[in-house]
Amino acid sequence: MSVAVIVVAAGSGLRLGAAAPKAYVEVGGRSILEWAVRAMSAHVAVTEIVIVTPQPQLEQTAAADWASGCAVVAGGVERHDSVRAGLSALSPNAHHVLVHDAARPFVPSEVLERVIDALLAGAPAVIPALAVTDTVKRVQLRGSATVVSETLPRQDLVAVQTPQGFTRAALESAHRTRSQSVTDDASLIEQAGGEVVVVLGSPDSFKITTPHDLVLAEALSRRLSPRPSR
Ligand code: CTP
Ligand code: MG
Repeated sequence: MSVAVIVVAAGSGLRLGAAAPKAYVEVGGRSILEWAVRAMSAHVAVTEIVIVTPQPQLEQTAAADWASGCAVVAGGVERHDSVRAGLSALSPNAHHVLVHDAARPFVPSEVLERVIDALLAGAPAVIPALAVTDTVKRVQLRGSATVVSETLPRQDLVAVQTPQGFTRAALESAHRTRSQSVTDDASLIEQAGGEVVVVLGSPDSFKITTPHDLVLAEALSRRLSPRPSR
């Protein structure tokens, strides 16, 4: 069975605050996007990759050797706009779709394997996730102070990663009926009342968000693959 991957890389990376859009920041001698695309193309079931980039980076991405064979399209203002742009570039024979954040460049093959296996076993929506290790509290503003309103039971909580896997029909229908802004695709399935299966993610799949995350990313890149000579 064939699986298509949409790699969303069209964000600007405000919280990272780099000179270039986040996906084009280099870590260990490669752009974050190149690491992510290489990680996705490593699985035999992946037959098609669509890369969603900021409009100004479209041409340079399409010309890159590591993107050969990939479709490259421009993204939108919000992440869900970028996913929608990716969906519209899929070939007609893609029946299963993974959506992956370029900002998670070091997804281990076991995680990809677990998501694809659950998807091909019949789940309409699959997400990789990790148990939450911090205590999580809900807070609110009281006057000028932030105060705790509730401590959430940690055993019920997971931190969600990508790639998230879907049947194409489920993902397309969820995006058609989207009623509010969301930070992941599975939320759309949940809003539509669909079941989302959770498989084990990995600490290596963490999302590069702030400058602090780049320190860990540099260290991980050295562990995963030697810095290419230039
Ligand atoms: N993304 C996208 N299109 C957008 C917004 C986000 O393709 N309009 C992608 C990002 O490129 C990233 C992933 O969605 O790979 C997760 O988003 P996030 O980590 O929030 O990245 P940014 O939106 O770029 O960062 P920030 O929110 O700090 O600006
Ligand atoms: Mg963002």
